[in-house]
Amino acid sequence: MQSLSDKRILLGITGGIAAYKSAELTRRLRDHGAEVRVVMTPAATEFIAPLTLQALSGNPVHTDLLDHEAEAAMGHIELARWADAVVVAPATANFIARLSNGLADDLLSTLCLATAAPLLIAPAMNRQMWQNPATQENIARLQARGVTLLGPASGAQACGEMGPGRLLEPEELAQAIISAGRTNQLAGVSVLVSAGPTREFIDPVRYLSNRSSGRMGYAVARAAEEAGAAVTLVSGPVSLAAPARVKVVEVVSAGQMHDEVLAAAPATDIFVSSAAVADYRTGNAAGQKMKKKDADLLLRLEKTPDILAEVAALDRPPFTVGFAAETENLHDNAKKKLKSKNLDMIAANRVGNGLGFDREENALEVFWTGGSESLATAPKEKLARQLVEIIIARYREKSLEQQHRTRVKDVQD
Ligand code: CTP
Repeated sequence: MQSLSDKRILLGITGGIAAYKSAELTRRLRDHGAEVRVVMTPAATEFIAPLTLQALSGNPVHTDLLDHEAEAAMGHIELARWADAVVVAPATANFIARLSNGLADDLLSTLCLATAAPLLIAPAMNRQMWQNPATQENIARLQARGVTLLGPASGAQACGEMGPGRLLEPEELAQAIISAGRTNQLAGVSVLVSAGPTREFIDPVRYLSNRSSGRMGYAVARAAEEAGAAVTLVSGPVSLAAPARVKVVEVVSAGQMHDEVLAAAPATDIFVSSAAVADYRTGNAAGQKMKKKDADLLLRLEKTPDILAEVAALDRPPFTVGFAAETENLHDNAKKKLKSKNLDMIAANRVGNGLGFDREENALEVFWTGGSESLATAPKEKLARQLVEIIIARYREKSLEQQHRTRVKDVQD
């Protein structure tokens, strides 16, 4: 899985010589899995043709705030909402000055004001311009507002001088954008995720399974890792690449998943049970391939252990998050499962009729005791990041409550 999978990056290009590097940056961002839309200032189009960026990004390039056709296709507010991150590379001294003053006199500056997404700027200019107190003050102001600064690098400049003000190289920019997406919110926290289907063998060549692709669980594992957690992923058979820096434990059956999850759970802070575990298995699988007979075949199935419920019933359970795949009565069924399995949170989604399993997109209704949140249809990578945000908030709240209770008990004792 790539580092920027399904991340929507709005790349702003302003008018400087280094604008040519944005073409390569667009390619690199897409190579890392991002979806890229480009917005250029009028000056930028003097340095590099919008058509080049259109071809490389695979999307129309936006240049004009008052372009009726472009606004009809995707208006500036929609673009601002669409973005998971806004990256301005190169950012000229003039653009930085406009940004620091909150001007909205072209499409790009308007978008920067209108977006709630993180803003990253990669300055590129002559060293005197960079070192000028006016620019330095503008940069300091932007950083104080939470804008991330990428570079600039020092070295030979287009004007023939040497010094700070060079745009970072495209791959350096891509890596800096990847690291800017990482947080430390779950530093020191261990997260266990179960994912994918299980296979319950009937004989050596046949098994019962389901349509789970494992994508949601893998995306949750990655989002937790990006948030700084130490992540273990217990995975049924899937055709997905292991997420970077995540320990993957491969299993096949519900029984194996049960053993691996329960072995890891006591040392886990947060458990997310996204696996589509078979509820039934054949018990004794035939040792040899079963031969076809004239009569119908009756399969007797026994229940598998409910892994999630067992983890939630541990003496010192982790913060436990279940999933509920429902074809009907989503709210009621999910809330029932939250209670009956004694969970901290449940993420419910509709399945069947082309929804849920084996799809790129999904929508979730997240419930916990005393609250809920709806996550609208989005790629599973994005949903997973949003879900992990909710888990972090609830996990922190629960930890604080527990600390409080321990303190009260200590005082009483
Ligand atoms: N789960 C589990 N072990 C099982 C079955 C399910 O850990 N043997 C977990 C799943 O990972 C999921 C949650 O339980 O987080 C809900 O699974 P689901 O199949 O939707 O619900 P069930 O409780 O099995 O109920 P039903 O099939 O009747 O909807």
